[in-house]
Amino acid sequence: MKSNSLITTTTHYVGVNDRKTELFEGMWPLPYGISYNSYLIVDEKVTLIETVEISCFERYLKQIKRILGDRPIDYLIINHMEPDHSGSLALIKQQYPEITLVGNKRTFDMIEGFYGIKSKQLVIKEGDQLTTGTHTFQFYLTPMIHWPETMMTYDISTKTIFTGDAFGCYGTLDGGIIDEQLLIEKQWEEMTRYYANIVGKYGKNVQQALKKLAGLELEYICCTHGPVWHELLNKVVATYDKLSKYEAEEGVVIAYGSMYGNTEEMAEEIANELSAQGIRKIVMHNVSKSHPSYILADIFRYNGLIIGSPTYNNCLYPAIEELLNKIKMRNIKPRYFAYFGSFSWAGAAVKRIGDFVEKSGFTVVGAPVEMKYAMHTEDMSKARALAIEMAKTMRKA
Ligand code: FEO
Repeated sequence: MKSNSLITTTTHYVGVNDRKTELFEGMWPLPYGISYNSYLIVDEKVTLIETVEISCFERYLKQIKRILGDRPIDYLIINHMEPDHSGSLALIKQQYPEITLVGNKRTFDMIEGFYGIKSKQLVIKEGDQLTTGTHTFQFYLTPMIHWPETMMTYDISTKTIFTGDAFGCYGTLDGGIIDEQLLIEKQWEEMTRYYANIVGKYGKNVQQALKKLAGLELEYICCTHGPVWHELLNKVVATYDKLSKYEAEEGVVIAYGSMYGNTEEMAEEIANELSAQGIRKIVMHNVSKSHPSYILADIFRYNGLIIGSPTYNNCLYPAIEELLNKIKMRNIKPRYFAYFGSFSWAGAAVKRIGDFVEKSGFTVVGAPVEMKYAMHTEDMSKARALAIEMAKTMRKA
C-alpha cells in the first residue's frame, strides 16, 4: 500500500494525530488538535525514535507493523520522557521484548519511576554515537527543553535532527508530514503559542541548545509535535532564536479584568490613545474571555504590556492574578510595562500589580492609574497620559 509517511528513503513518520483532546497538559486549548510524532528508521537494525501518547497506541502500532511486518525493532531512542511521548513505552516493550532502550542517565531514572522497566538499556553521554547500518546517530544532551532528561539525536547520514519538543507546535498534520506538503499558516501561528505555553520558561536552555547545534548541517528537523521542518527550516530556527531571547516586535498587549465595565472603559481609553499615537499593533484581552494560552502568545510577540485589574476581595481580580503568575513563571523580559486598576472602598489591585512588577525585570512606563468607583474626567486624562508615555517610550527604543 502506498503511504505518504516517508521523510527520507529509510526514515518513516509513524506518529498519530489527536483530534479529541480539548486541553493539552490539562490546561492549553487545542482547537486544531495536536500530533504526537514518532519516527522509524529501517536499516540493518531498526530504530524507533519516541513513542506516542498511550491512548493512541493501537493506531500507532498498526502503522509500525504496516512498515515492518514481523520484523522486530532493535532500538528505541527516547529523547524526552513526558508521557505524551513515552506513554506507549511499556506497550512497545511488551510487543518487542528484545528492544534496547536508548537514553541518558536521567532518562532511565524516569523510565524506572514511570514504568518500572530496567532491562536492556544503552546509556549514552554527550557526543556518543550509535551505528545501525548506514545510519549513525549522534546524541546531544539538551536539558530543560523541556524536562531535565531531554536530548536530541542527530542522524549524520541523512542530516536529520530529532529534537523532542523543540521546534514543535500545536495542530494536527492534515494529510502531509513535511512542511512543504501542508497548509502551514495554521501551524505557524500555533508555534508561538506552543512555545509561550510549554517551552517559554526555558529560553536560556534553548539558546544553549541552539549554540550546540549551530555547526550541524541540517536537511530535516523532526520534532515531537507538528510538521517535519524542511523548506522552512531556517525560518523555524530563526524564530526559536528570537523567541528564546524574548525578542518582540513593536506592539502592545492590554490584558484586563472587569466585572461591570469600569476597568474595561479605562482599557478602551488607553487603547484608543495608543492608536492615536501611531501604535498599530494593539491586542486587547478581557481575561474573563481570552484563555491565558493566547494572552501569553501575544506577550511573547509584542514588546509592550499593560495590565488592568479591579480590586477583588482586597486582592487582584483572580484571572489577572493567574495571568501574572504565568508571566512570572516564564521569566519574560524585557517588556515595557504599564498598569492601572480600580476599587470601590479599599484599593489593592494597583498595589499588587506594583509588587509583581518590582520583581519582574520589566521597565515600568508612566504613572499607574488608580480609579475609584468609575472613570471620571481626571482618570481619563491620566489613562491617556499613560498611553502617550508608553507610545513615546516604545518609539525611543
Ligand atoms: Fe510534548 Fe514536553 O512533551
